[in-house]
Parts: sequence; structure tokens; C-alpha cells
Amino acid sequence: MAKVTRIDHVAILVDDLQKTVDFWQDALGIQLAHIVDVPAEKSMVAFLPVGGSEIELVKPTTDDSGLARYLEKRGPGMHHICLEVDDIEGMLAHLKEKGIQLINETAVDGMDGRKYAFIHPKSANGVMVELYELPK
Ligand code: CO
Repeated sequence: MAKVTRIDHVAILVDDLQKTVDFWQDALGIQLAHIVDVPAEKSMVAFLPVGGSEIELVKPTTDDSGLARYLEKRGPGMHHICLEVDDIEGMLAHLKEKGIQLINETAVDGMDGRKYAFIHPKSANGVMVELYELPK
């Protein structure tokens, strides 16, 4: 059976990237690796690696994306947790069998050959869960 192998990242939705980096980097001492413009997600993402996982600070760059509407409605804060799995299609099939509501019924091809899919927060006690399968 498909397995969860690690926490890949925790994504936090922010309205002020610099102010948020100041907290995570300057107050907590987690070094900022880089800030990337991700047009596909209509956002800028700051990556702060820690212990083999990452904190991702996500700032919407337009006001018409799902992320922007989420920020508008709920304010800045936790957005999702991302778990690495060894077999994403196998995991999605298993979740469907269990009646778990998925945002992506099949894995989406993302950056650097990785595949991802989101589980609906309705099926995960209010937490949006992203699944990643990294290229071998
Ligand atoms: Co993510």
C-alpha cells in the first residue's frame, strides 16, 4: 500500500511577505533559501528549509485566484500541510475507496517532475492536505 514518508512542507498564506519572512527568519532563525515567482499559482513563494522539510510562505500576486480569495475571506495563516508519499496514484485510489473527498481526482504534474494532489479539508477535519510524489 502507498505510504506517507515525510512532511514535505507547511504552507502559510501571507499578505505581507517581507514582514512574515522577518518573523520566521529573524525571530526564529530559520534561513530563507529563496523567493520564487510561481505564475501557475499566481503567487510569490518564500522557501525556508528546516530539518528536511520546508516552511513555505505564499503570497497571492493577483486578487482573482483561489488563494487570494482564501486570504481575503480568512486572513493570513496556515493554508495546507504537504505530505510526501511514495505512490501518489496508489494513495489517491486508496483514499477514493475510503470515500475521502479529493480536490484533485488524479495527480497533477507540478514543478521539477513532482506530482501533487489536494485532499479536501472537509474530509480532513478542516485541514487542507497536499500530497507530493517527488521524482525518483
Ligand atoms: Co504546497
